[in-house]
Amino acid sequence: MKKDMEKAFNDHLNAEFFSAYLYLSMANYFAAVNLDGMAAWMRVQSEEERAHGMKFVDFINDRDGRVALQKIDQPPVEWESPLAAFQEAYEHECSISAKINQLVDLSNKHSDHAAHNFLQWFVSEQVEEEATALRIVEQLKRVGDNAVGLMIIDQQLGARTPAAAPAG
Ligand code: FEO
Repeated sequence: MKKDMEKAFNDHLNAEFFSAYLYLSMANYFAAVNLDGMAAWMRVQSEEERAHGMKFVDFINDRDGRVALQKIDQPPVEWESPLAAFQEAYEHECSISAKINQLVDLSNKHSDHAAHNFLQWFVSEQVEEEATALRIVEQLKRVGDNAVGLMIIDQQLGARTPAAAPAG
């Protein structure tokens, strides 16, 4: 693969691993405030992000590129509320979507159809990721300080199970 593509893909896999760190940190925050369902949801999300990073690792290797792992930034440890955490998760997903779009633009610039094709899975995934996070943000806004409402959302989110491994 072209050198600037290799660099951009390496940068992106770092962003996916940071996402895994961020959501694992959020899981720990939720565990600390006894919202075990949200903690479980975030742990599953963290694992999915690691899988996303690994898809980039595999693609770079398959394309005869070189994976160069970079330092992963330290995520925050505390959030002021469950809503604040999910709001940050939503905004983070929007920033990941923008990065994916830039990778698509770069692959188009190089007429790299293999990279373009690989990235389409992520384009679709980001629609889901943003929609899911925003839905939870809206639910948390609706319940506000209502403890019962918060418990119901916590229970619902705790039912999340790991997604089947994506094909490919
Ligand atoms: Fe891998 Fe949530 O983006």
